Amino acid sequence: MVKICGIGAGYVGGPTMAVIALKCPSIEVAVVDISHSRISAWNSEKLPIYEPGLEEVVKQCRGKNLLFSTDVEKHIFEADIIFVSVNTPTKSSGLGAGKAADLTYWESAARMVADMSKSDKIIVEKSTVPVRTAEAIEKILTHNSSKGVKFQILSNPEFLSEGTAIQDLINPDRVLIGGREGPEGHEAVLKLKGIYDHWVPEDKIITTNLWSAELSKLADNAFLAQRISSINAMSALCEVTGAEISQLSDALSKNTKIGPKFLNASVGFGGSCFQKDILNLVYICESNGLIEVANYWKQVIKVNDYQKSRFVNRVVSSMFNTVSGKKIAVLGFAFKKDTSDTRKTPAIDVCKGLLGDNACLSIYDPRVSKDQIHKDLSMDSEVKHVSIVSDAYEATKDAHGICILTEWDEFKTLDYQRVFENMQKPAFVFDGRNILNVDKLTKIGFIVYSIGRPLHQWMNNIHQP
Ligand SMILES: NC(=O)c1ccc[n+]([C@@H]2O[C@H](COP(=O)([O-])OP(=O)(O)OC[C@H]3O[C@@H](n4cnc5c(N)ncnc54)[C@H](O)[C@@H]3O)[C@@H](O)[C@H]2O)c1
Repeated sequence: MVKICGIGAGYVGGPTMAVIALKCPSIEVAVVDISHSRISAWNSEKLPIYEPGLEEVVKQCRGKNLLFSTDVEKHIFEADIIFVSVNTPTKSSGLGAGKAADLTYWESAARMVADMSKSDKIIVEKSTVPVRTAEAIEKILTHNSSKGVKFQILSNPEFLSEGTAIQDLINPDRVLIGGREGPEGHEAVLKLKGIYDHWVPEDKIITTNLWSAELSKLADNAFLAQRISSINAMSALCEVTGAEISQLSDALSKNTKIGPKFLNASVGFGGSCFQKDILNLVYICESNGLIEVANYWKQVIKVNDYQKSRFVNRVVSSMFNTVSGKKIAVLGFAFKKDTSDTRKTPAIDVCKGLLGDNACLSIYDPRVSKDQIHKDLSMDSEVKHVSIVSDAYEATKDAHGICILTEWDEFKTLDYQRVFENMQKPAFVFDGRNILNVDKLTKIGFIVYSIGRPLHQWMNNIHQP
């Protein structure tokens, strides 16, 4: 029986390993992590992350060919193939601080693998890493392992999206496997391909050299984020010209060379990956003397920051230029719907911006815990202006304005007549995800701001800083 060890039981390691276990009953999959609390949550009824369909997959395999453990050493020792899905955040200090990827966790995982391995192993990079990381990992492994043990490093970046992870893993657009040239590299690629062959059609499995696979993942995230910043930049122009962003998106999407996805204007992109991976790309470009290329990608992040501050300014300027002491209901805190993940969610910057103007926030998100929101807004002096409530009606009661910051389906079907009646007047709605029916809300009496749409007469005369 082939044994797999997945190091890192996070948003990537947990779901990917669970789906491999589901699709390959003949393979034993052990998911290990240094975090005891994460592992005990994976072994409990309440999994550490929310992802549609994940619980069913885990329940089906856990205790059969899928296990979660903190015994990292044992499972590394026993494994034939090791997937490394540890976190690779942006470096916060030292050389490359604020841009370069912090490979501390990766390096420590590689050192553990080197220490524990007594037989040949295939090491699979699942984490997103800078191009040519495999070369550094190879060096760590070969200089620190027992004599005679051989390692083959493969790059197999993960393209799942949070919120649709299980669907994406079961039915991927493509699986990318990069390996070393030469017979041993080729054999390792075929072994990993053999796992995906259990459920992924052959034509969707792409094999490349190591560096193309590593760089493809950074490029993929940069292109996706760039589309969001492009449509968001257009949304600002729509608001001042009377053009309408949904009509623009629709027209663009019908161009087969552009396609329909990632064309929704919003308050900005979030999530743990886009910003950190673009910064990493920028750092790699700068390190290679490609300053113009670095500046090109930097702009994607600048536009994203601009979109968030533009939203805050719109809220404040519409409400008589001050939100001081006013109750603002924040609906949604996760960085997108169907996930409990708040890493780099635009809600953090928007809330901090409103708190900076002394607003009183009442926040509701269907999946994000109170503790998490408190942690994300850890600004001691302002936390007293934040209450976190358990339903949208409570959040909006007596509020002066509502900010929709996550596109949760339940926000589309609230009883807005009831919401309106319980709010202060004039009652404002700032739809940061463009999910609401503006005409319907306007008829009820709301003053509605929707990103990239012609401005309500109320806002039209207000100079936007
Ligand atoms: N989240 C996504 O949507 C996504 C998608 C594709 C790729 N990625 C990439 O995948 C990687 C992991 O992302 P994530 O969101 O799952 O991160 P995460 O923080 O949710 O999980 C990483 C886990 O690794 C564990 N860990 C760290 N060092 C360890 C070690 N030495 N031994 C054992 N466990 C260790 C941590 O405790 C943590 O539980 C990152 O490189 C990320 O860029 C993420």
